[in-house]
Amino acid sequence: MDQHDAILSDELNHASIIDGCRLSRAKVIRFKHSDMNDLRQQAKDAKESGQYHKIMVITDGVFSMDGDIAKLPEIVKIAEEFDLITYVDDAHGSGVLGAGAGTVKHFGLSDRIDFQIGTLSKAIGVVGGYVAGKKQLIEWLKLRSRPFLFSTSLPPAAIASCSASVDILMNDKELIEKLWENGNDLKNGLSRLGYDVGQSETPITPCIIGDEVTTQQFSKRLYEEGVYAKAILFPTVPKGTGRIRNMPTAAHTKEMLDQVISVYEKVGKEMNLI
Ligand SMILES: Cc1ncc(COP(=O)(O)O)c(C=O)c1O
Repeated sequence: MDQHDAILSDELNHASIIDGCRLSRAKVIRFKHSDMNDLRQQAKDAKESGQYHKIMVITDGVFSMDGDIAKLPEIVKIAEEFDLITYVDDAHGSGVLGAGAGTVKHFGLSDRIDFQIGTLSKAIGVVGGYVAGKKQLIEWLKLRSRPFLFSTSLPPAAIASCSASVDILMNDKELIEKLWENGNDLKNGLSRLGYDVGQSETPITPCIIGDEVTTQQFSKRLYEEGVYAKAILFPTVPKGTGRIRNMPTAAHTKEMLDQVISVYEKVGKEMNLI
């Protein structure tokens, strides 16, 4: 994308998407979070204005701070209607949805999304990232992507670790099942205590506290009691929606999660939050 183009971007997209859009110099048009009427209207306006060479719609696959899933089937329909390029950042979907392959696969849209990108630092547990798309597109990126061309590639040990992780992920579905089970247990446990866990549809489990200072104090007290769960505050999330973002993994045991829930109960009561 360049200065002659436009990018339609979900208002809750991750900061790295926002920075990438800025770097492209394209006109960035934000649409309301997962609001398909707004996206459709903005896509129509952008297309009918005749101002742009190309128009792209860009979204997180799984929204990192809330854990909800992008409405990809509807996004694809709108994209096909208005000839939009589609781009999904699946940092939080890969290894989690679509039997590990991600959000695009989860919805069966692999041949209808132009770019699927993701990180190798979350479920894969190493470092780096990937872009998946049509062969021609990947060839083009290899020649034209400046951050790719002008930076050092990953070291062989990191590549070998990523490769081993992908093998494990493809051959052992138990890890993904365990991850979902842990996510559900934690969500249910926190809801039962009376916490607001938002609209998450994935193992990402926000615990929305609200006030920024209280959220920070709460995170500090959790840590003192043995639970490492970081506070996420404005400007990462809107003002007044400070939260603790819990990320259970497949490696957590039932005992660990029970302990987490009892610490949440103790600290929540101590701070009059529940
Ligand atoms: C949606 C999204 N994209 C990209 C990234 C960046 O990943 P990395 O730090 O591995 O480059 C993150 C990390 O938090 C993310 O949540």
